[in-house]
Amino acid sequence: MISNKEDFIEKIKNSYKPKGAFIHLGAGILEGQVVTDAEVNLALKMMNRHGLIAGATGTGKTRTLQLIAEQLSDAGVPVFMLDVKGDVSGLAEPGTTNEALLERGRLVGIPFEPSNFPIEVFSLSGKLGAPMRLTVEDFGPVLLSRILDLNETQTGVLAAIFKYADDQKWPIVDLNDLKKLLSYLSEGPGAAEIKEEYGKISTATSGTILRKIVAVEQQGVGHIFGEKEFDINDLFNKVDGKGVITLLNISDIQDQPLLFSTFLLSLLAQLFKKLPEVGDLDKPKLVFFFDEAHLLFNGASKAFLSQIEQIVRLIRSKGVGVFFCTQAATDIPPSVLGQLGNRIQHALRAFTPNDADNLRKTVKTYPSSDFYEIDKVLTSLGTGQALVTVLNDKGIPTEVVATHLVPARAVMGPASPQTYSSIVSGSEFYAKYQQRVERRSAAEIVDEKMTQFNLEREKEEIRKEATAVNKNVRRSTRQTPMEAATNQASRTLAREGAKLLGKLANGILDSIFRKK
Ligand SMILES: Nc1ncnc2c1ncn2[C@@H]1O[C@H](COP(=O)(O)OP(=O)(O)O)[C@@H](O)[C@H]1O
Ligand SMILES: [Mg+2]
Repeated sequence: MISNKEDFIEKIKNSYKPKGAFIHLGAGILEGQVVTDAEVNLALKMMNRHGLIAGATGTGKTRTLQLIAEQLSDAGVPVFMLDVKGDVSGLAEPGTTNEALLERGRLVGIPFEPSNFPIEVFSLSGKLGAPMRLTVEDFGPVLLSRILDLNETQTGVLAAIFKYADDQKWPIVDLNDLKKLLSYLSEGPGAAEIKEEYGKISTATSGTILRKIVAVEQQGVGHIFGEKEFDINDLFNKVDGKGVITLLNISDIQDQPLLFSTFLLSLLAQLFKKLPEVGDLDKPKLVFFFDEAHLLFNGASKAFLSQIEQIVRLIRSKGVGVFFCTQAATDIPPSVLGQLGNRIQHALRAFTPNDADNLRKTVKTYPSSDFYEIDKVLTSLGTGQALVTVLNDKGIPTEVVATHLVPARAVMGPASPQTYSSIVSGSEFYAKYQQRVERRSAAEIVDEKMTQFNLEREKEEIRKEATAVNKNVRRSTRQTPMEAATNQASRTLAREGAKLLGKLANGILDSIFRKK
């Protein structure tokens, strides 16, 4: 028994003793007892190998995110975190000492000391923090069609329109730009031109897309598109050496998971696109926490999943770590799950057949252990305890260990309303992003083209009439450019767009997202 405990301490210590800086996750648990000396650590240098925090509701996932974010901040690493329930802003206030927290501190060998952290709050609605916007073109056709709920043909059309606008250097900033472009290219004078390149846009398809854009606007979502666009460089700040924790508070749009999850993915894509290659660093440049990540994957199309997979795979070399937080590991598609090297699994339940199935699948993803029966541990972990296996500083998976996690040091919940509003109103980002700006973009350009086109057509008409009168010949039967556009042979844009989309989805991300 004793030797078993000593054996345990030695194995865990050896397995979780990284060379460089690390996050102190907690202490190992053996036969229901916390073994303080069995320190469980996560190497900072391995945080760009991504992670998964999973477990049933109320088992402590969000607090685990919090305690990791706190220690990252201390280490000078900035953090981005999705605040789904509005219960993470307490990071700005030191926690209140109580017996449970003191006891937790003692058990893991780090005396509990309340602390607070520098935070910034953003909001997609613009109501709970500085507004965070992206332009439609940076969003890209694949992500946009997820929000618009377009089918493959319609997505193909959208991809072709993005390509056309990019070739013309017409900025698609907001949904209005997109609507104008769509009309211009489907039934306006642009129809002939885009047909040359890609084939005809059917008016039925463009009509459907237009209706879906209007529907999305009616849900009050349109404002997330536009300028001033969020500058990803604003995610890398420090205050007094501490990394700033940037929260995106979406508690007022929780019922629109498609919107915020797609927005976040788009943000990740921006990071990927704009950050330089850095290879493996001593510590990450940024860690991105994706709470309630199942919302990202539910009902995702193949193109969408392949984007997630590529971004997660490639962003590692930009020094960014991504941690997904979700109820069951099975929420995450295998191609993504396989890339999450650091795993913190909170308790699972086995009430329903579905639970049992999840449990079985989760158990299978763990290596065997000398100390635990994985399924028993997973169903018996307490709140703030988790089964951990991470990558050590050489990239090798560590020994699986049930871990009593360190206490979070800031308030575990929302900040007080006073603190919250003073953070928002005192933020330089609130001042910077609060105001929407409009510039000459696709909508204005299309309007100018239309005016010019109508003018020319009128002139043409007058000239024709004059000719007919003067020379007394019959009116020309020549088609107007408009008629020519609609009548030309049957190559459909939908088909070409779909091909283009296929190439985009399989190809390099750079071709999906507009280069700047
Ligand atoms: N590391 C921890 N330290 C102290 N208390 C914790 C810890 N983890 C969880 N708890 C307690 O458990 C509660 C539920 O945790 P939470 O993270 O909100 O669960 P989940 O996100 O899994 O639904 C918290 O409000 C807190 O009281
Ligand atoms: Mg939670």
